[in-house]
Amino acid sequence: MSDTPDTPFTVAVPLPDEAATAALARRLGALLRPGDLVALRGDLGAGKTALARALIRSVTHEEAEVPSPTFTLVQSYDTAIGPIWHADLYRLSGPDEVYELGWDDARAEAVALVEWPDRLGPLLPADRIELTLSHDGPDARRASLTGHGTLAARVAAADWILE
Ligand SMILES: Nc1ncnc2c1ncn2[C@@H]1O[C@H](COP(=O)(O)OP(=O)(O)O)[C@@H](O)[C@H]1O
Ligand SMILES: [Mg+2]
Repeated sequence: MSDTPDTPFTVAVPLPDEAATAALARRLGALLRPGDLVALRGDLGAGKTALARALIRSVTHEEAEVPSPTFTLVQSYDTAIGPIWHADLYRLSGPDEVYELGWDDARAEAVALVEWPDRLGPLLPADRIELTLSHDGPDARRASLTGHGTLAARVAAADWILE
């Protein structure tokens, strides 16, 4: 933790269809590096896993098998941007259980994509990206993306206008 006050930077991105979500995921993947954490928020079916899958495919290969970590809680990948630790913590019994899932190594070496990040409790880092997806129709979503701490500048510098 630093003493620097948090100056978050937020962008809103309309996602008219799943291809737009994949395009946003590619942009996000391009700015992430090991040690970064993305908190993926939104209701069941909002598209958290779909976005993570598109991001992972964009830094591995387009046909990569990316199952939802609903039951395994974590899936790990070796990618062009380093290891990715994709977690769905909905079924986490308590914050301590994340250590059994490789939390320390993930924070040290990997990009962490975390669905249901509230389960982390006090482990949720101050430096992070918050990405909230909400329904805007059957195939339309809205994304709100906020960079906190050291991630604010990187979110602010990126281009979020999807073509
Ligand atoms: N624009 C969109 N972005 C993301 N997913 C979408 C979109 N439109 C439709 N979908 C569908 O919505 C569902 C999202 O499911 P999932 O990613 O598992 O949600 P979550 O992980 O948030 O519970 C998928 O079936 C996906 O194909
Ligand atoms: Mg999911």
